Amino acid sequence: MPFIKPSEIFPSEITPPEIYRERRRFMQGIGALAAGTALGTMDEAHAGIKLDGVRASVYKLDEARTPYKDITTYNNFYEFGTGKGDPAKNAGSLRTRPWTLAIEGEVRKPKTWDIDALLKLAPLEERVYRMRCVEGWSMVIPWVGFSLAELLRRAEPTGKARYVEFVSLNDPKQMPGQRSRVLDWPYVEGLRLDEAMHPLTLMAMGLYGEVLPNQNGAPIRLVVPWKYGFKSAKSIVKIRLVEKQPVSSWTRANPEEYGFYSNVNPQVDHPRWSQAKERRIGEFFKRDTLMFNGYASQVAGLYRGMDLKKYY
Ligand code: MTE
Repeated sequence: MPFIKPSEIFPSEITPPEIYRERRRFMQGIGALAAGTALGTMDEAHAGIKLDGVRASVYKLDEARTPYKDITTYNNFYEFGTGKGDPAKNAGSLRTRPWTLAIEGEVRKPKTWDIDALLKLAPLEERVYRMRCVEGWSMVIPWVGFSLAELLRRAEPTGKARYVEFVSLNDPKQMPGQRSRVLDWPYVEGLRLDEAMHPLTLMAMGLYGEVLPNQNGAPIRLVVPWKYGFKSAKSIVKIRLVEKQPVSSWTRANPEEYGFYSNVNPQVDHPRWSQAKERRIGEFFKRDTLMFNGYASQVAGLYRGMDLKKYY
């Protein structure tokens, strides 16, 4: 759990992910046997509700998808604990209905959307994206959602809007991790307006064709595939268009380590970890990390002329 300084890391969290996962699988195997469940069926056991009318999209990847089980049991969601298995264990207390998402700030048409209206706002697409965490692991995830641009356009940003701020739910009753001060709650993230309007920037409401599990940020989260995973705020209740660059929770916690841009960049290391390589969950050998997580042809233009070491 390297987002926190080494002195605060518990031994269980230093275990390399693959060993941790093997161990966990083994324990779950024992549990399943005890419960009389056949071992082989565990990976197919999606618990979710199917989403209607999901279309294929141009965002397909010629890479193996990370199994549902790994995507939904190896998470970062500090509102439910700092261990990778905590969100799957604890996020059952999150109530995702009723849920509203407010669009406000520098817009001509502010609006509070009901989540069920949002589900119908634009055609839902399946988009298979690479996801790269700053901690060094990666996954390939078939998200379901639509471009954030669909939502922002309807709000009609004013000429003053230059950045977009995302705010996650703040409710310690539902989110037990918020009783600890690991971060300044609520979780806040931000993008430049042109990044937010980029077609790749997704509002996700599902994965693997089903409603988003709570631990992955239900009922609605951001997904910005060319940036480190922490930019992709979960369980969002507010989107504010603003003039000044927002200060994200991670930047507030440690500005040296977490910059505003946080674009995946194998040439710019995090102070504590090299970013040159990554471990795809489920694979043994490390792979090279790609510039902008492999999306350079689509997004490099957003940063033309910028010193990416300075604007990390
Ligand atoms: N959003 C909120 N509200 N709280 C969090 O702790 N963790 C971030 C991001 N969004 C986080 C969050 C981090 S560090 C990562 S890597 C991704 O969510 C993980 O998303 P996943 O668990 O769906 O893979």
